[in-house]
Amino acid sequence: MSARTAVPNTAIPALSREGLLDWLHTRTRLQRRHVDRILRRAEQMQGQTPDRYHPASLNPDRAGDQSDCFEVAPLESAATIPPRYRLFVKQLNDPRYHEAWHYLALTPAGAPVPVLYGWMSNADGHEVLFLEHLHMGFTDESLPPEDSRYEAFVRLIARFNALQPPTRYLAQLPLADLPGILEDAVPALRTLVAHGRRGGLGTDVRRLLTRGPHSAAHLAAQLRALVRRLRAMPVGLIHGDLFPRHVGVRADTGEWLVIDMLYTQRGPRLFDLAPFLGAPEDATPLLADRRRELARAYLDSLGPAPNAPRDVGELLAEAKALWLGWEMRCLRRWILSALEEGSNGVYRDSRRWLLQRLVQLAEWRP
Ligand SMILES: Nc1ncnc2c1ncn2[C@@H]1O[C@H](COP(=O)(O)OP(=O)(O)OP(=O)(O)O)[C@@H](O)[C@H]1O
Ligand SMILES: [Mg+2]
Repeated sequence: MSARTAVPNTAIPALSREGLLDWLHTRTRLQRRHVDRILRRAEQMQGQTPDRYHPASLNPDRAGDQSDCFEVAPLESAATIPPRYRLFVKQLNDPRYHEAWHYLALTPAGAPVPVLYGWMSNADGHEVLFLEHLHMGFTDESLPPEDSRYEAFVRLIARFNALQPPTRYLAQLPLADLPGILEDAVPALRTLVAHGRRGGLGTDVRRLLTRGPHSAAHLAAQLRALVRRLRAMPVGLIHGDLFPRHVGVRADTGEWLVIDMLYTQRGPRLFDLAPFLGAPEDATPLLADRRRELARAYLDSLGPAPNAPRDVGELLAEAKALWLGWEMRCLRRWILSALEEGSNGVYRDSRRWLLQRLVQLAEWRP
């Protein structure tokens, strides 16, 4: 189970419709009549008009701080109404965040996402979304590559990436500038070489950097080649945060759906897949055969998308480059952690990680 479940609040009794409107008005600062209109629409779509409701706030201690969330479970005097009639209310914490427009464009395009019953911005400009309530069964750790359901997850990523929403929507999406982000890390190589040659990043890194007169120059050339590789990657629709914690299950059909559309944008077409199939052997338990099998499943579910990778080989090479490029953006932070590891031993794995990434970069074939 996800740790992000609603806090059972026995202090809140079941509320009447009027009571629920007051409760939601207090928490979201939406006008009661707007909440009432959205609730009516949800009930119309669900074919249920409950007589009592049980609202609860989602645990405010959960990791994210981009939204406050509430669950509303309808109750009937006779029995509890099945979970599919619950509502999930998500209030974004910053007026610059917008999520409803993604649902509006992606739902008609057949996206595997929960139903958006309605939305409205409050007086502070914070968007409040009223969504179909899903069962959130996964954490990022609870779905490892050896799990038999991992393939379903990979196929879900493909279904999302294959969507073809209206061009007008696509044209307004931000473009993830990963090449630019990686380019910003290039000057950190000079720092790396200066500290590394003196041994400040550990003996293994020093050995790598002093292996030959061209080793530092080779790393710099490789990093620049990686930037060029990222820049040349075909661009597609990406979710931007498609990890197992953002997969929910529809109550009555068991269908897997994707939530949290805040980072949906255009970007390198395999961005969502790269964390899973692009990680090198030292960073994932995936074996080569399984990796190829999952790559085939991804291509199969992607279907004849206009810029689908040609084959498994092209897909895996691109995912690998993307994974490495996305990781290397952290070079500056790794150097700092590796330097500190020498002085206080707190970050015990940072030198090993830095070394492994540098070796991977040095051996990468553009
Ligand atoms: N439709 C839904 N049904 C049930 N639970 C949901 C739904 N949407 C979101 N949640 C729960 O709320 C949590 C936060 O939602 P979401 O990821 O959309 O917001 P967020 O602001 O990005 O939060 P975080 O940063 O914690 O991921 C999710 O991890 C999930 O547990
Ligand atoms: Mg989230």
